[in-house]
Amino acid sequence: MSPSYSSAAGEVPAPCRALVLFGATGDLARRMLWPSLYALHCDGLLPEPFQLVGAATKPIPDAEFIARVHDAIRASANGSLFNEQAFEAFAKRIRYVAVDAAAEDGFAPLRATLAPGAGGVIYYLSTGPEHFGPISAQLGRSGLADAMSRIVVEKPIGTDTGTALQVNETMGSAFAERQVFRIDHYLGKEAVQNLLALRFGNAIFEPLWNSTAIDYVQITVAETVGIEGRWGYYDGVGALRDMVQSHVLQLLCLVAMEPPAGFTPSAVRNEKVKVLWSLRPMTRESVLTHTVRGQYAAGFSGGKPVPGYLEEAGARPASDNESFVALRAEVDNWRWAGVPFYLRTGKRMQERSSEIVIQFKPAPFNIFAGIGQNLAANMLLIKLQPNETITLSLMHKKPGLNEVRLGEVPLNLSLDDAFAASRKRIAYERMLLDVLRDNPALFVRRDEVEASWQWIDGIVHGWQAAGQKVKPYPAGSWGPTAAVALTERHGHSWHE
Ligand code: BG6
Repeated sequence: MSPSYSSAAGEVPAPCRALVLFGATGDLARRMLWPSLYALHCDGLLPEPFQLVGAATKPIPDAEFIARVHDAIRASANGSLFNEQAFEAFAKRIRYVAVDAAAEDGFAPLRATLAPGAGGVIYYLSTGPEHFGPISAQLGRSGLADAMSRIVVEKPIGTDTGTALQVNETMGSAFAERQVFRIDHYLGKEAVQNLLALRFGNAIFEPLWNSTAIDYVQITVAETVGIEGRWGYYDGVGALRDMVQSHVLQLLCLVAMEPPAGFTPSAVRNEKVKVLWSLRPMTRESVLTHTVRGQYAAGFSGGKPVPGYLEEAGARPASDNESFVALRAEVDNWRWAGVPFYLRTGKRMQERSSEIVIQFKPAPFNIFAGIGQNLAANMLLIKLQPNETITLSLMHKKPGLNEVRLGEVPLNLSLDDAFAASRKRIAYERMLLDVLRDNPALFVRRDEVEASWQWIDGIVHGWQAAGQKVKPYPAGSWGPTAAVALTERHGHSWHE
């Protein structure tokens, strides 16, 4: 069967005539979405005609709004692509409209602004999750959601299984699941998609990709930034719900999933959700030995002193919110039984680094032991950011005429160097293009969201029942010392 990117096999993707960006003046829109749309325009990847409608609550004249988009693109990661002539053509697509999702006919101005024509409308909700329900309900009521339209939402979908179900239900009342695109921007990163290419585009890894050859797996997503003034959102959500429920679990799925039957949305997502279903639930007892919560204290970042979480401007003084979490997860299935997956993410860490470590088991017998040579077990290090590299550590003989001396040598592949001629794309360029092409393979399906929340809820409930408090760690470190113990207890160690 040939791969199909549309929801029904053989169906031609519905063309789109417009994209409405709710939250059009917000931070994400400014830094990522307008610059990504501009890049797609410059590459000739937007359909013709294709209207871009910015929507937010405050009335802003079109010209002023367009000037803001202009400045946002120039200041963004895509600023180097900017040229006034191309922007002029891009700006012709743009209109701005003030909307009120709570008012009786609050989307009437939007209906009036959307140019009629064939093709569906994409509604991109770059808003707080509390607006997902009201906006989708209003789109349904005002007749703006039809069979051709699509809705795109950012994480987080809810704050636990119950609220995620509610959000999914409300969106489901106006849109069919095939029309819903849930973004996890990590899936838009080249390096993350490369994981699929590495695993399923090469035959050499598959025979080793299991508990027979692999000792343990580590996934680290470390950031150097602090809370960045996001109190309203982050405090009370914390690293577990902000990062693990979405990005970290998605990475885990890509590492642990079975080979899908094809690169089709259903095949890929079916395999990912099975991994989530296989995660061993955490209990009041296991959270004590399998999880560590941390909160950054004052320290240094980039050589400069920085305040602790509770000393940041606007801090809630008694906050027990975690800015770091380390977990020992277990995937209970045939492939992974007995292989720990150590997951760790935090803010104000020593380095910005996202990486996956596949630690292989030691050689079964060391023929060099008699001449005093130890063997280090092989390790595959997949670095996702800031640089994209793949390193396989191997044992080699050191050159020389004396006795055999062995050392560890990295076999290094820098993908940044190998593809130096290609422009580094913003993850959202890929995601927006996939929405336009009606390809949901890199978007999170409803059952994935709900399965990941179920596992996360178990941890949160465990923490509450066990009264597990955050442990402080100095800004600029690798987290609380308890996180070191989490791995060392089993004879393992974090790759740093
Ligand atoms: C977001 C989180 O989803 O991802 C932020 O809400 C985090 O807290 C960000 O800083 C990290 O994304 P990236 O692409 O910079 O690794």
